[in-house]
Amino acid sequence: MAFKFTDKYLKSFISDSDLKSVGGEVDSAVKTLEQRTGRGSDFLGWVDLPVDYDKAEFSRIKAAAQKIRKSCDVFVVIGIGGSYLGARAAIEFVLGQNHNALKGDSPEIYFVGNDISSSHLRDVLEICDGKDVCVNVISKSGTTTEPAIAFRIFRDLLVKKYGDGAKDRIFATTDKARGALRSQADALGYETFVIPDDVGGRYSVLTAVGLLPIAVAGIDIDEMMAGAAAARTELSGGDVLSNPCYRYAAIRNILYRRGKRVEILVANDPALTLTCEWWKQLFGESEGKEGKGLYPSSAVYSTDLHSMGQFIQQGERVMFETYIDVNVSDGFTIPYDEENSDGLNFLAGKEINFVNQKAFEGTVMAHTDGDVPNCVVDLSSRSPRDFGYLVYFFEKAVAVSGYMLGINPFDQPGVEAYKKNMFALLDKPGYAEEKKKLEARISEIG
Ligand code: PA5
Repeated sequence: MAFKFTDKYLKSFISDSDLKSVGGEVDSAVKTLEQRTGRGSDFLGWVDLPVDYDKAEFSRIKAAAQKIRKSCDVFVVIGIGGSYLGARAAIEFVLGQNHNALKGDSPEIYFVGNDISSSHLRDVLEICDGKDVCVNVISKSGTTTEPAIAFRIFRDLLVKKYGDGAKDRIFATTDKARGALRSQADALGYETFVIPDDVGGRYSVLTAVGLLPIAVAGIDIDEMMAGAAAARTELSGGDVLSNPCYRYAAIRNILYRRGKRVEILVANDPALTLTCEWWKQLFGESEGKEGKGLYPSSAVYSTDLHSMGQFIQQGERVMFETYIDVNVSDGFTIPYDEENSDGLNFLAGKEINFVNQKAFEGTVMAHTDGDVPNCVVDLSSRSPRDFGYLVYFFEKAVAVSGYMLGINPFDQPGVEAYKKNMFALLDKPGYAEEKKKLEARISEIG
């Protein structure tokens, strides 16, 4: 397996006896998860998903992906939060950030409906001009404002372009029975895929939410599920010392109790930028509640060593790092230069990845010296299998960690607050009283 979690750089901060001291709490969090007795236990569908999924739907996803690949130049994926981050993370993890330019026989893939930016929507509409387009609209609730706005716009584009044929180019991923998107899809005859009731948005990448866009990108979704299934087997059983997932959950809680407030997920390859964003949602929404939780942040090295590196080395000592070391040796070497005017010949013939590895080692040592503890995930490839493994590792870790923290890792009540205010300010029916109060407060501020 190309995935390995290690806390060998953490020894000056956390010993095995520190870990053993929270072993009982870890065991009890795991038991709560496995026996489904904890808060949020209605949302544990992700636990067995890698092996217990709807095989008929899985085949339909593959067939739809083939159809989409054959019938469009541009595939527009509409969704926000858990209905967007996982798919984009997987595609960039495996294919890199330049996948649209290097697409081979895949359509270009764009993600919209994940913000309220008119220029973002306009740009993607312009990209679609003169091209064949298919759309996947994804919303578990079927009522989220951002994707609903984007879908109106792209549905209009398809209807103008293809008339009745538009419905064959629209794929809806939503609840099996509820929500405006479900009603629309049923009424207009779109092919639909289901987000299971017991899988929350941020845990849904291995459902149709992630799998359809990922398959359209030409990525092997069987392999991705196999990676998650391997993690499910390998990361069950054992204890805080022997199970890396439990060890990671314990380390996070120990560091939090010692005053660390920020966890930075670092990756040394920009292909993992969106994996970090996906992780931020998973950990932020799962743990950030009841006035508790580590603030999940992210960085891409060495890029961010030239910006945030100063703060991490010498600023407020509130953070630790979980460093995903992407160590993929691909034979790409630094050329020799006869004149050596840049003084770089000491690196000639060395792999670029070798330099990245030395940067990794140097950074971990420097940050450790600067009182920033580091745990590490070694990743020696960026295959679909690795992505599936990584997803399951983090999903299970945050569930155990969240139960150790004493919160419900599967709800997100705080997300509603901004929506309520926005709806009131936008005159949504039913919000008149709220609107009056809010506008009074806003005008008081001036
Ligand atoms: O984790 C969550 O539940 C949220 O971030 C949702 O994924 C996000 O709000 C999108 O919701 P929906 O899929 O219902 O449109």
